[in-house]
Amino acid sequence: MAIQFDTIWMESVDSTNTEIVRRYDSLDNLSVIAAVNQTAGRGQRGNVWTVEPGANLTFSILLRFGESCLAPLKASSQFTISEAVTLALAEYFEGEGINAKIKWPNDIYVRDRKLVGILIENSLKGDEVGRSIVGIGINCNQREFPPQLMNPTSMSLLTGKRYDTKAALDDFLAVLGKYLEIMETSEGRSQMHQLYLTKMYRLGELHEYTDCLTGEVFNGTIKGISESALLQVEMPDGSIKEFAFKEISYIL
Ligand code: BTN
Repeated sequence: MAIQFDTIWMESVDSTNTEIVRRYDSLDNLSVIAAVNQTAGRGQRGNVWTVEPGANLTFSILLRFGESCLAPLKASSQFTISEAVTLALAEYFEGEGINAKIKWPNDIYVRDRKLVGILIENSLKGDEVGRSIVGIGINCNQREFPPQLMNPTSMSLLTGKRYDTKAALDDFLAVLGKYLEIMETSEGRSQMHQLYLTKMYRLGELHEYTDCLTGEVFNGTIKGISESALLQVEMPDGSIKEFAFKEISYIL
């Protein structure tokens, strides 16, 4: 049976990720909470996610794993969730004529500009993922951004069109459903992993990065990601170094 989402639209909420937590006990697997206006959106690394009310898509998806939910997922394989979500976004954008790349671990970029931010909050049960709250902010119709945001873009800036955000959410969820089905088998997961590599931003290109642990700026080439989802970068001396999320910063 095709995967179905149960979407609740709210006029205004602080953060859709937080709202999922508040309503957790009454929500089924595959519930989606979307907000026309999000007043205290949360981003990665403790940042805030601020958007023009009504212009963009801000929503969160509840994924439960285990019995009568999605197939059990080992904690060590939790990066698969990022892969499914980012691949679904890339495919959705392709359908809209936008060539999007995945900036490891889970941003969506078009050229050097950020189109989507993703905040995935997993909770583990022993060595498995119990549930995941996948928060997604897609810049749809916003055309002007605060100057402190370094490099944002939007679907509208890229294509010149205006988007119906409710229809856009439904279209995206249809693609995501397909990837959640693919995620159910180990063969599907390894196919997704290969596909993720082909969609990676800056893969095989020489660019500048900062090693956040030493402060050193270096020229490196992204070669791939390790089994444990670390970023593998070829360093100036030819060695391959693996970085965790907070250990490397892309210089744009
Ligand atoms: C990032 O820092 O790039 C991640 C931003 C994630 C923003 C989305 S908007 C919907 C959901 N609710 C939140 O509070 N954050 C995520």
